Amino acid sequence: MDSNVSPNIESRRMMAKVFGKTHLLQKDERFDKIPIEHIPIGETSDGKLVCLPKEFRDEPVIIICGGRGSGKTWLLHTILDRTNKYTDKNCLILNDYMNESTWWNWGWDDETRKRRLIKLNEESVPLPIMHFFPSSNSLKKEVFRRRYRYVLSIPFSTIIDHAEEYFNWKPERDKIYYYFKNAAEKFKLAKSEEEVNEIIEEEFASVSTKGNEMFASMKFKLKNIMAEVFRANYTTLTCHESVESIELKDKTTGEIMYKNDPISACYMAGIVPAIMTSDILTHERYASLFFYYILQQRWEKKELPEFRNKAEWFFIDEVNKITGKGNEKLTEYVTRGRHKRFGMVVCTQNYSTMNKFMKQNKDYTFVLRQNSDVEIKAISNDWGLKKFEEDTIQTLKTQEVLGLTTQKFFIYDRNGVPYPHTEPIKMKSLFPLSYHAPPNIMKKE
Ligand SMILES: Nc1ncnc2c1ncn2[C@@H]1O[C@H](COP(=O)(O)OP(=O)(O)OP(=O)(O)O)[C@@H](O)[C@H]1O
Ligand SMILES: [Mg+2]
Repeated sequence: MDSNVSPNIESRRMMAKVFGKTHLLQKDERFDKIPIEHIPIGETSDGKLVCLPKEFRDEPVIIICGGRGSGKTWLLHTILDRTNKYTDKNCLILNDYMNESTWWNWGWDDETRKRRLIKLNEESVPLPIMHFFPSSNSLKKEVFRRRYRYVLSIPFSTIIDHAEEYFNWKPERDKIYYYFKNAAEKFKLAKSEEEVNEIIEEEFASVSTKGNEMFASMKFKLKNIMAEVFRANYTTLTCHESVESIELKDKTTGEIMYKNDPISACYMAGIVPAIMTSDILTHERYASLFFYYILQQRWEKKELPEFRNKAEWFFIDEVNKITGKGNEKLTEYVTRGRHKRFGMVVCTQNYSTMNKFMKQNKDYTFVLRQNSDVEIKAISNDWGLKKFEEDTIQTLKTQEVLGLTTQKFFIYDRNGVPYPHTEPIKMKSLFPLSYHAPPNIMKKE
């Protein structure tokens, strides 16, 4: 932050006046460097810096909402970069469905932005991300082989445990469910597709001795359903690229320092894992189970000594795309996970229809430009906004934000003095520290 009133700067100006240019301030002396104790996210029109607190008693739920192209992902990226750099929280990008974070591994290359960051006493730094692609037969293998390394899949047993939702079976309607249920525990132990088929054969051998056609067709149907699961390439039984664990090795000795699931291993290595979901969201029930699996795993891993006392924040773009079981798990996080030190930053275009527990438990909402009356009313009702604030939302420029909180912001005035602030505040999002590709580049990809 720059400061206009520093005695040092003033006295140097005076000396320059009297003794000439050599006494002018050098480039890096022109500003007093003020240490920022919080997470900077925005600037007000009168040059104040708006920050989120670094520490919370219970980790926060932060909602970013706005219309198309208003700057939601930009702000999510801004918060992520700073949270990762200035705090020791573990960060997970849970739902990058547009492959946007593939650019965040780079720094800014344009000088204006770099200079602007320097003025804020910050620097452009690439975000260290590892990208994980959920396994699926639609994954664009060639692209992925060229640029990325890891494919994640869910265990077959997870699909078996949640077969009712996954296959959309209704026990009272779908008889096949009972035959499936009888063999469920055996399926979970199967090591290959052949074994799964053998189990189905065995299961029906005991009931189909009467040569009943119904059993034959049921058996056929169950085999087909299972074949489809494997064909879709969603599960670890057949997906040889799946990553069940990652080892961190000492660079010089080659000794294994840490071994765990990919997300935990990334955290330990100081890397931000990103789950790239563009290939799975078309299969809604699989996507929901995939998110469920990842979130369930994080919940369990939180008991490990290396994570128990560490805050873990999920960064979730387009959170409304997480439905069903995945959404139920998110509810658990916002209602029971925050004192365990789970926090989240989520984006949506449709605040009105988002998970109601998330809305009830929110600590911050960042509102970007939008024109939908339904959305504005929903936000206004939840936050008790005044008419002029509702109007402001419609006239915000791209990347301008109305920040609302039940907790507090920290604001640094132009002299670098911080003070808490609880009222709605209008600001412009800061740049992310790493490169954010403009939409025209994204389209070319
Ligand atoms: N590198 C950049 N340089 C300049 N402008 C950019 C850059 N990257 C993004 N933008 C602009 O910032 C705005 C916000 O983009 P962002 O992707 O955050 O919007 P969004 O609200 O997430 O949109 P969507 O609803 O499509 O997800 C866009 O208008 C975009 O043109
Ligand atoms: Mg976006």
